[in-house]
Amino acid sequence: RKIRKYVTPLTVPPVMSPERREKDGPDHYRIGVRQFRQQILPKGMPRTTVWGYGDVSRPGRFRTPAGTIEATVDRPVRVTWVNELVDGSGGFRPHLLAVDPTLHWANPPGGESGRDSRPTFTATPGPYRGPVPIVTHLHGGRSTQDSCGYPEAWYLPQARDIPHGHATVGTFHDAFGEEFTHRHGTAWQPGSATFHYGNDQRAATLWYHDHALGLTRLNVYAGLAGYYLLRGGAADLPPGVLPGPAPRLGDRPGTRYHEIPLMVQDRSFNTDGSLFYPASRAFTDDAGPYLPDGPFPPIWNPAFLADTMMVNGSTWPVLEVEPRRYRLRLLNACNSRVLIMKIAADRLAARPAPAALPIWQIGNDGGFLPEPVSLQQLLLGPAERADVIVDFTGLREGTELYLINEGPDVLCADDFNPSDPATTGQVMKFTVGRLTGRDRSVAPEDLDLPRIRPLGHETRTRRLALDEELGHDHSVKMMLYTIGADGHADPRHWHDPVTEQPALNSTEVWELHNWSAHAHPVHLHVVQFEVLGRGKDGRQRPRPGDRGLKDTVLVFPGEITRVKAAFDLAGRYVWHCHLLEHEDNDMMRPFLVR
Ligand code: C2O
Ligand code: CU
Repeated sequence: RKIRKYVTPLTVPPVMSPERREKDGPDHYRIGVRQFRQQILPKGMPRTTVWGYGDVSRPGRFRTPAGTIEATVDRPVRVTWVNELVDGSGGFRPHLLAVDPTLHWANPPGGESGRDSRPTFTATPGPYRGPVPIVTHLHGGRSTQDSCGYPEAWYLPQARDIPHGHATVGTFHDAFGEEFTHRHGTAWQPGSATFHYGNDQRAATLWYHDHALGLTRLNVYAGLAGYYLLRGGAADLPPGVLPGPAPRLGDRPGTRYHEIPLMVQDRSFNTDGSLFYPASRAFTDDAGPYLPDGPFPPIWNPAFLADTMMVNGSTWPVLEVEPRRYRLRLLNACNSRVLIMKIAADRLAARPAPAALPIWQIGNDGGFLPEPVSLQQLLLGPAERADVIVDFTGLREGTELYLINEGPDVLCADDFNPSDPATTGQVMKFTVGRLTGRDRSVAPEDLDLPRIRPLGHETRTRRLALDEELGHDHSVKMMLYTIGADGHADPRHWHDPVTEQPALNSTEVWELHNWSAHAHPVHLHVVQFEVLGRGKDGRQRPRPGDRGLKDTVLVFPGEITRVKAAFDLAGRYVWHCHLLEHEDNDMMRPFLVR
């Protein structure tokens, strides 16, 4: 059945409610991860079984994307993240999607004699059917290592059918558990972890999502993502300058918002409404001639580009807008799709289509840009955010505009295959309605954005490389390399010893060499970096939207992207490609600040 477009009104994610607020302490949240059904396809079509976050005391409020966590600069937030992936009788729920046990992944070990014996749940050939490990990462957050969502800091739900002696937490706890339990009161309880977010950073559009080792692509695809909006402090604008209001706690249904988060994701669906994600390795054509190389057939694919576009958890939604300015917080939360978005009058126009309205970008991952930029199109790689203003002022009632996508439908550089104008080339529709009140926001071209303090001089430069390799068994391997002073490059796997060890409070330049044929969005945890340059020699000016501070940067094929970061929190963190399929197959490395 065809999915009809623009019949579902856009959902604006509601604000997550704290369990309690302390006057001079943190806001406390208790957020569960559950399985439920949601109307993602238009009404009349089947509902989709998904995973999502929600307030554990309000079962009706679980959704994907999750409720937004509204946070204030310098006012901490503490979240107890509860793994509630259990069924009605208290048994664990297996994954919604096929888990590839041949990857280097969380792989909860178990058995009679403890965690080193034969895995309990992977003993049978085929996908893993055991309980699902999760761990939440606040993407863009300046979180200490105990709260950063280290991929090996996963934990299982509390379920009656998890055998005695089965490891229910990741190995990270063994190495660091003692230290963690006492810092900030951060603690792992069976089935949950309490993370502390200091919010001592610039106001910015952050997001949270799952980060379990080798499972991130599946857990996020299943629905585990939400916004975390950090406001206030010296790097924010006074209220009223930008279009608003944004959703707040306790808003009445029907409240009109002029600041709206737009989480863009691609998904494919089976005819029964369930999510489709490849369960065999032969799925993608460009995946190579795969041969099973172990006891189980591998499942992993190097990328997955789905065929349906979803915004805030609905396929191809429509938003009625007033003829005024809107602030949109765009996030590319696709597993591996790079978006090139444009506002166009004709959704089916031959590509490239003319832009009907400029997109004024005022912010990115790390908060506001140095100055607003007017764009005809917005390039957004996975995990990147763009804080934008779109001005519908003066448009006649009934005008229809479309957010279209001219990004590629395959990832190959030499074979730029733009997305199909009839499907993934469309994202959502705006229909202009009536103005209900005066727009008192400042025009984007007149905005004076908060100053950004430049980072100091670097004390060292590291050279790192990204590549993809065809293995001896014809498997594709995502690889990260360190490049020595003599130019020699050494491949590094996730489990290899830590090579990047910036000194605490040092500033470093990382040169990211992309030797592969694809663009990779490279993300560093805990820091917000400056993009210094890009291009063949790493000396070209960064794209306008890459100015200011970023936590994720698209590194184009054959290019070098240079970033500068100040490492001012000690601990063990990760950096990785944010194409989730790559991240899950070794395109991720630890770094250690000390
Ligand atoms: Cu958005 Cu390491 O993640
Ligand atoms: Cu990649």
